[in-house]
Amino acid sequence: MSDTGVTTYSKTQVVLHWSIALLILVQFLAHDGMEHVWRAFRRGQDAAANDVPMAYMHVVLGLAVLVLACWRLWLRVRIGVPPVSGMEHPALQLLAKATHLVIYALIFIVPLSGVAAWFLNVPGAGLVHVLGKDILLYVVLLHTAGALFQHFVLKSDVLRRMLFLQQA
Ligand code: HEM
Ligand code: HEM
Repeated sequence: MSDTGVTTYSKTQVVLHWSIALLILVQFLAHDGMEHVWRAFRRGQDAAANDVPMAYMHVVLGLAVLVLACWRLWLRVRIGVPPVSGMEHPALQLLAKATHLVIYALIFIVPLSGVAAWFLNVPGAGLVHVLGKDILLYVVLLHTAGALFQHFVLKSDVLRRMLFLQQA
């Protein structure tokens, strides 16, 4: 994923970044309904009526992540993104790039494996989904720590440009 000549993110890229982040947060906070319905399905039992709407919400919001991720990747290819940062150690830049790459992969792998489990009943897809969301959680925590470190310690502009506070 190479950087192009742009110096900041477009408004659409910023809105997409935070929309995807918010949707993923909701998926992590409200997955009980899906877990119960899925467990009942695997055991050949009927799901509790109050869990079903939450399971559908999980599917709809998860599909929304997939659609927004496609849009985001398309924008990245079409207009590019600014360099990860201009000021710190090359090893940290590499870590930031690797983190972004893994996050990009997971915002496709996690919903797609969910689709494969839920709609197509593909064996092993549920496991990929569960492992994928765990990795996503840890990588996003690293990513968040990195963003806060850059902002508060290195005093770089990376968080500001992801918050509409610095536009070209
Ligand atoms: C589920 C939550 C999140 C996801 C999936 C996510 C994903 C990403 C991705 C893929 C990029 C790379 C942008 C690109 O090259 O197109 C990025 C950039 C960025 N993210 Fe996140 N992010 C999340 C949460 C956060 C949080 C909580 C913060 C801040 C506290 C944050 C701050 C940033 C910043 C500052 C950048 C720009 C980095 C740079 O330009 O070098 N992100 N994010
Ligand atoms: C980025 C989007 C998504 C995130 C972050 C996410 C997150 C989660 C989480 C946290 C769980 C609970 C796993 C556990 O601890 O047992 C889960 C389970 C599940 N999700 Fe998703 N999900 C997403 C998208 C989807 C989509 C689009 C579908 C289906 C169309 C889906 C279907 C499922 C299924 C079937 C389970 C139960 C899997 C199992 O327990 O083996 N998910 N998901």
